[in-house]
Amino acid sequence: MIVNTELELKGNLFPTKIIDYKKDVDTLYFTTENNVVLELTILRDSVLRFRYATTGNFEKDFSYAITKYASRGYNFLKIEEDKNLYKVITSKLICEISKENLRISLFDAKDLSLINEDEIGFHWEESYEFGGDIVKMSKTSHDGESYFGLGDKPVKLNLKGQRFQNWVTDSYAYGKNTDPIYKSIPFYTGLNNNKAYGIFFDNTFRTYFDFAQERRNVTSFWAQGGEMNYYFIYGPQMSDVVANYTDLTGKPHQLPPLWALGFHQCKWSYYPESKVKEITQKFRELKIPCDAIYLDIDYMDGFRCFTWNKDYFPDPKRMVSELEEDGFKTVVIIDPGIKIDKDYSVFKEALEKDYFCKRADGPYMKGKVWPGECYFPDFTNPEVRDWWSSLFKELIEEIGVKGVWNDMNEPAVMEVPNKTFPNDVRHDYDGNRCSHRKAHNIYGMQMARATYQGLKKYAYPKRPFVITRSAYSGTQRYTSTWTGDNVATWEHLWIANIQAQRLAMSGYSFAGSDIGGFAEQPHGELFTRWIQLGVFHPFCRVHSSGDHGNQEPWAFDEDVTNIVRKFIELRYQLLPYLYTAFWQYADEGIPMLKSLVLFDQDDVHTHYRTDEFIYGDKILVCPIIEPNAKGRRMFVPRGKWFNFWTDKIVKGGKEMWVDADIDSIPVFVKEGAIIPKYPVQQYVDEKEIERVTLDVYYKEGKENSMFYDDAHDGYDYIKGRYSLRTFKLTGKPKQLIIQQHKEGKYTAAYETFLVKLHGLPFKVTKIEIDNVLIPLSEVKMNGDNSMIVDKNFTELHIIGTK
Ligand code: GLC
Repeated sequence: MIVNTELELKGNLFPTKIIDYKKDVDTLYFTTENNVVLELTILRDSVLRFRYATTGNFEKDFSYAITKYASRGYNFLKIEEDKNLYKVITSKLICEISKENLRISLFDAKDLSLINEDEIGFHWEESYEFGGDIVKMSKTSHDGESYFGLGDKPVKLNLKGQRFQNWVTDSYAYGKNTDPIYKSIPFYTGLNNNKAYGIFFDNTFRTYFDFAQERRNVTSFWAQGGEMNYYFIYGPQMSDVVANYTDLTGKPHQLPPLWALGFHQCKWSYYPESKVKEITQKFRELKIPCDAIYLDIDYMDGFRCFTWNKDYFPDPKRMVSELEEDGFKTVVIIDPGIKIDKDYSVFKEALEKDYFCKRADGPYMKGKVWPGECYFPDFTNPEVRDWWSSLFKELIEEIGVKGVWNDMNEPAVMEVPNKTFPNDVRHDYDGNRCSHRKAHNIYGMQMARATYQGLKKYAYPKRPFVITRSAYSGTQRYTSTWTGDNVATWEHLWIANIQAQRLAMSGYSFAGSDIGGFAEQPHGELFTRWIQLGVFHPFCRVHSSGDHGNQEPWAFDEDVTNIVRKFIELRYQLLPYLYTAFWQYADEGIPMLKSLVLFDQDDVHTHYRTDEFIYGDKILVCPIIEPNAKGRRMFVPRGKWFNFWTDKIVKGGKEMWVDADIDSIPVFVKEGAIIPKYPVQQYVDEKEIERVTLDVYYKEGKENSMFYDDAHDGYDYIKGRYSLRTFKLTGKPKQLIIQQHKEGKYTAAYETFLVKLHGLPFKVTKIEIDNVLIPLSEVKMNGDNSMIVDKNFTELHIIGTK
């Protein structure tokens, strides 16, 4: 049922005039003559919550998305009233509420400009079929306004002119513009007059978003049940909007172990054990770095979760530990469908304890997945989640598996037209019993959460690592994600790029695609181009379906293998930089990938760019997404950038041609950046790092860079055993000064940095470290402008002549 928002639509109801106003600490209540109540909560100076009840009564306030750790508190709050309106004033926002019809207008508190306003605003229809309301909101859309976000939609970045729905769906071989697919992230950022605001519609029913498609000047969103309940987040910087949304719905609860940021190899399926070993040995033999090997459903006994096929894997514990000795972490798949089999302990226990989902009229929810007929645990019940988490004890604690991959958790059901549970299935919803209409979009999230709880418990004192296919807002607190069953086509390479960027600007940075494509087989060129992009995604895994040939880095030809190795090595060299970006994401909610609009919203040219993105905060990447390319045209954002491969400096703010034959892709480094690098390793912590390289890119002016480090696993960093270095670079015509500020109690094994200077416009004549003159010979100044410096320097002063 597509509900449209047109006024003419019969049956729409609207709030009438306000007759009562009450205030309770940070929450205001406005009641209309027809008994509509607007509950307006001031969470922060720039974050307001709007919630509407159509009968005077609100439902119990409960959300899976909002984290208890969300920041709250504002600096300033004043409420004014005049003949026509109420005015709620914070230090960042002015919110006007019309007494006539409850319509909202929001203004910047500083320059009084209009940011966002209701068109009809809140309205609703009664849902005769299901009960409750179909709740709707419409906002004015301006001509130059752009829209971004909504999770994994495989469409161009700017959402304007399109309509979407959120209903998580198993989408094998989806394509450009398929909607909906695996995730429901009902959050978008609007950008108008260079001011960004966000709207998070926290409603788990099937939701719709129309970005000026139905009517040119209207953007609307609505849900097939529940409440109109949305958060308005003001920027004006888009990066602040995303960071505040991430604060609200949660940052990752801990950093991933560093190996999870390495390269991962997967296939449906590697079995038996000898095949797994053959693959891992080949990685080592060919010296292609790799940290994790995945087991897909065939490792199980008849696809029963938490069992092993002993013909293929006679001694999983031994195998897992042998793989680990060789630097490979084993990650296994776990699906939600539990095979109906009275001799299967997981099934028996769940049945006895009454943990399976049931239909409205009583029978169990029965559906076909890989094992045949299955029942499905109700992960929305906290007791079921606890039980599920306990099932991981053997797998993780005993056998030594290091990560779990949750799949089919939309939940996917085979051979039925709607691909999932029927609407009437009942769920606990943490004590707020409801039907599948409300629980569908969060079912996968709650499964991932329960799995995460299990790994957190049994991997301790190591950090957990979980991947999920389905997600709702907030899932980023628990797990990483991938973009599902894509296809080995050039179009899908474009989609992978868009999805990773879009997920990052939807609060979900730890994401990646099935590199090379899941369905069908790529040829060597496509695989190479995909690897060249994939190594710049926070989650980096090759995966493919079993029936379409091999997809390992050596499955093509030697040239491909060599280029792929070079790019995977680059990922390993950049691990300290990527880890720092992850720390910034986990600490402040800053997206690890930044679309150009998020990086430089003041330049309108960025609003329609899709291919280029910033990896971390200093490296610009633009994939090659066409066959036979020797390079491409791309937009380089404002400022000066160093070509990563040649050190040639380009001035941005415009489109340009960049050479990139098959062994290269356009990568640029922002001037002034200091990039920490490790030596190449075959897997994380293979070697004790003896020296970290700092690539320093000269800039006339100032630039700050960070380098975060810790033990790469475990929780000591939370107790202060981390090291955070901030480098302040100041470049002058004949000088370069780098000041270092250190924080944290972690001491890494390495004692020195290899400082490599790029683009120095002068010849070095003098070097001072912490005000002491150092003879050039002593710092081993090489011809290529590099020198070895004690890692604890506070000021490095490089002086020269023209
Ligand atoms: C689903 C997953 C895919 C997996 C397959 C078999 O299609 O998306 O990644 O390999 O199931 O488990």
